[in-house]
Amino acid sequence: MINRDVSKIIKKRRSIFPKQFNGDEISNNTILEILQNANTAPSHKLTQPWFFKIFTKSGKQKLANEIIKLKQKKSDIFEKKIISNFELSSHIICICMRRDKSKSIPEWEEIAATAMAVQNIWLSCVNSKIGGYWSSPDVIGKLNIFLNLSKNERCLGLFYLGIYDSTPLRSVPRKDIETDIEWIE
Ligand SMILES: Cc1cc2nc3c(=O)[nH]c(=O)nc-3n(C[C@H](O)[C@H](O)[C@H](O)COP(=O)(O)O)c2cc1C
Repeated sequence: MINRDVSKIIKKRRSIFPKQFNGDEISNNTILEILQNANTAPSHKLTQPWFFKIFTKSGKQKLANEIIKLKQKKSDIFEKKIISNFELSSHIICICMRRDKSKSIPEWEEIAATAMAVQNIWLSCVNSKIGGYWSSPDVIGKLNIFLNLSKNERCLGLFYLGIYDSTPLRSVPRKDIETDIEWIE
């Protein structure tokens, strides 16, 4: 038997989008606690490839301006959405991945390990007023200079975090896993 409390937490995890945030701030200590959970993710050869650049307060504005600048197709709607999303968010975490210099582990494994760290961020928010989601806009591939990333480093997305009032959680139906399981005995 597995621990049903763990199952409940996993099933309660949801994406909470910035438009649901109320603009309140999360303390940096809480963000650190969340990232300490992220840091317990597994990784092949314990490379721990994840690292994070955290934008908050006026830092958010700098990142928003850069994203707007880098967006190829200029649009007022996009610009307004980014500004509003950033204002409503408390912290925006750039999810980054670093491969070791000898590339001893395939890139997909390092990305997978980083994604597991992100799942821990997400799970850390369950049963709290903190919500968040992983955003992967096309401009993340162009943020290397702004984020001061080296050749062996990549930004895999932005994790928006903010405070939300108890709104009913979206129901996001999943496929029936039994249709995608094959038992081989
Ligand atoms: C790697 C990854 C990238 C994502 N990128 C985006 C994104 O760019 N825009 C978006 O609206 N949601 C994005 N999401 C969130 C998904 O839309 C969301 O997880 C999915 O709809 C299921 O909803 P749930 O997280 O509430 O279960 C991303 C999720 C993952 C795992």
